[in-house]
Amino acid sequence: MASPIVLVIGCGVAGPVLAILLKRKGYRPIVFEKVRELGTAGASLMVMSNGLKVFNMIGVADAIKAESLPLKALWDAKASGEVLGQSDLPSTFTERYQQPAAGIRRTSLNLLLKNKVLEEGIEVREGWGLVAIQEHDDSVTATFSNGESVTGSFLIGCDGIKSAARTILLKQRGVEEGAPSFTGLTQTAFLSETPGPLQDLAAMRNWYGDGTHVIAYPVGPKTTSWALTQRETQEREETWRPFTADEMKTQQDALCKLLEGWDESIVQGVKSSERIIKFGLFDRDELKPEQWYSKRCVLVGDAAHPTSPHLGQGANQAMEDCYHLSCALPNLSSRQDFESNIAALGAISDIFRPFAESRQPRTSVLVKGARALGEKRVAVGAERGKERDEAVAQSYRGGAAAIVEKFEGLLSQPFN
Ligand SMILES: Cc1cc2nc3c(=O)[nH]c(=O)nc-3n(C[C@H](O)[C@H](O)[C@H](O)COP(=O)(O)OP(=O)(O)OC[C@H]3O[C@@H](n4cnc5c(N)ncnc54)[C@H](O)[C@@H]3O)c2cc1C
Ligand SMILES: *[C@@H]1O[C@H](CO)[C@@H](O)[C@H](O)[C@H]1NC(C)=O
Repeated sequence: MASPIVLVIGCGVAGPVLAILLKRKGYRPIVFEKVRELGTAGASLMVMSNGLKVFNMIGVADAIKAESLPLKALWDAKASGEVLGQSDLPSTFTERYQQPAAGIRRTSLNLLLKNKVLEEGIEVREGWGLVAIQEHDDSVTATFSNGESVTGSFLIGCDGIKSAARTILLKQRGVEEGAPSFTGLTQTAFLSETPGPLQDLAAMRNWYGDGTHVIAYPVGPKTTSWALTQRETQEREETWRPFTADEMKTQQDALCKLLEGWDESIVQGVKSSERIIKFGLFDRDELKPEQWYSKRCVLVGDAAHPTSPHLGQGANQAMEDCYHLSCALPNLSSRQDFESNIAALGAISDIFRPFAESRQPRTSVLVKGARALGEKRVAVGAERGKERDEAVAQSYRGGAAAIVEKFEGLLSQPFN
């Protein structure tokens, strides 16, 4: 009997990983990607141990680590550079959680994953944007922007924060969801050569100023990724974009002015920045677990639980989703029980339901936590700034044990 076709919507982070995990379990995934060709996305992301364990299952963890410079430390300071706290806990992540934390450019990660999918002999159809879904008793038909339709056994929506799969599933239930919600914060991100003073320690560094927060971490042996978070109203949306080469000098000067009196290494980073991009930070209100799936469709990653980036968990939680969903689906490569396994796909929402019920509470807490942390980081005014700095310093005072506790619940997942 032919392997059941799985329609995987989106070739971002979750799509390729699920496609590979499912191929290995005897399914025939096809990945559909709206974008015709991957562009150079501006931002970077921090892959943590929980995500890297899943990337390791599909054989890309070593490539991620080789391109990056795995984290050795956490380091927090006032805007001036006066240290609030420091910990070398991340240097023990591999020992504790099998994998370290490592920053990577988003474009590199996307390319690496897409190439891995192709290498595994999985079909990727680029320029195919999902526009409609029709569910039947034993199958599902997806229609795409090019007018083509494809039928499979089930569909997995991995199509990100602006997920069409999510919109369609909600509409079936009579829910009209608007655009993602602007969190009131923007980020200005860029890459630079790692400034001299930061070269001796591969750290995730935070600087806290009045209404402004800066984060930096290595995404390569000599490269640092930066993001500056500020409060801003949505009226200035037209300024949210990559800046052109002609605008670079003006942008760098504006940033230097904004960062007057800040740690000199940040200013060095700005001055040697290659490309500056600014964007708004968005998330969405949580869905109920039963809204994550339908008769033959299920959502994972940002499609199910888009988050602002302050906890660095969006992609990592997407990886946990991939792991749990692939574990829950029957293994069709095993000849034993093949008939009953295939039969189980008949009532596949019985597999989606416990997946959604276990994943929704965890991700919902993290989405709210990320939003709250973002708010705290950009505290405005001397008094609230002082409170924030004191809280940051306090979080280090419990010593290693307190910091281990903060990470344990995240990094010991999805298996250890
Ligand atoms: C500034 C910023 C910093 C971040 N930093 C971190 C971090 O440090 N750590 C972390 O873990 N996470 C981070 N994240 C979050 C992380 O990027 C996302 O959580 C993660 O990419 C989600 O993966 P995904 O596969 O669900 O969606 P995506 O990676 O967004 O992929 C979705 C894919 O679906 C495609 N698509 C969209 N619509 C359709 C359609 N209709 N049909 C077909 N294809 C479609 C898209 O083109 C895209 O390729 C950050 C996010 C931002 C914005
Ligand atoms: C599926 O079953 C096959 C055959 O028994 C086995 O080799 C393989 O490791 C299993 N795959 C997974 C992901 O469990």
